[in-house]
Amino acid sequence: MTRDLSARDTWARELMDEADADLEMLERTYERFGLVNALVSRPGLLYRRDVRLRARRGPVRILDIGAGGADACRLIARRLRRDGLTGTITALDVDPRAIDWAARHDRGAGIAYRHALSSDLVAEGAQFDVIISNHVLHHLNDAELRGVLHDSQRLLAPGGIVVHRDIARSAAAYALFAAATWPFARSLFRGSFIRVDGLISIRRSYTPRELAAIVPAGWRVRGGLPARLEARWEARATVD
Ligand SMILES: C[S@@+](CC[C@H](N)C(=O)[O-])C[C@H]1O[C@@H](n2cnc3c(N)ncnc32)[C@H](O)[C@@H]1O
Repeated sequence: MTRDLSARDTWARELMDEADADLEMLERTYERFGLVNALVSRPGLLYRRDVRLRARRGPVRILDIGAGGADACRLIARRLRRDGLTGTITALDVDPRAIDWAARHDRGAGIAYRHALSSDLVAEGAQFDVIISNHVLHHLNDAELRGVLHDSQRLLAPGGIVVHRDIARSAAAYALFAAATWPFARSLFRGSFIRVDGLISIRRSYTPRELAAIVPAGWRVRGGLPARLEARWEARATVD
C-alpha cells in the first residue's frame, strides 16, 4: 500500500467521529483501544515517568482530554492504588458516546467522567497536576488544537505537567500499521473502526517538526518509537 504522506490529510475523517457511526462498532472500538494503547501508547511508561513522582508529593489531580474508552485512566488508577498513592482522575471527552461507554466500564476505578470541552473546565476554574491526551491532537482543526494547548496551560497547577501524545505521521508508520493489523482485520479488529480509523489517523497526524512549528513558546515536542510524538509543557513549581 503506497500513499503520499508528505503532508497531513486534513480532509480525511475518522469514521468514529461521525454522528451516525454504527454504535456497536464504535463501542467495540472503545473496547479495543485498550489493546492498541498497551502496544503502542505505553500508558505505564507515562505513569512511571510523569504521574508517580507527582503523586508521591500528595493526592494528584489528573485530567485525560479526549479519553475515549478511558483505558489509560483505568490503568493509572490501578497503578496509583498498587503503589499506595492517591489522586483523582477526570476522563473528559467531547463525544457523549465515549463518556457513556467509559462510565459503564469503570470497573471500580473511581474515575470522574465528563462530557465537556477543556474550555468548560477552564471556565469552572478547575486545576490539575497532570494533564494528558493520547491520539487526540490529530482529530482537531487548527483552532481546536490551539484551544486545547491554551486550555491545558490554564488548567495546570504550579509544578504540574501537560503531556499530549499522538502518532507521528510517516510512510513507514502507515505501512507498518497496515501490515500489522491486516491479519487481524477479520478477527480481533472485526466489527470495529480500529484498522480503518488507524490508517486515517496516521494520514491526519503531525510529524514532530510540524507540531513543533505550531505549539506556543515553552512547549517541547519530541518524537519517539514506534511512530510516536509528544508535546510537553511544565508549569513552574511556584507562582510569582
Ligand atoms: C482516537 S480517540 C482516542 C481515545 C483515547 N485517548 C485513546 O488513546 O484510546 C480520540 C478521542 O478524542 C475525542 N475528542 C476529539 N476532540 C476532542 C476535544 N476537542 N475535546 C475532548 N475530546 C475530544 C474524541 O471524541 C475521541 O473519543
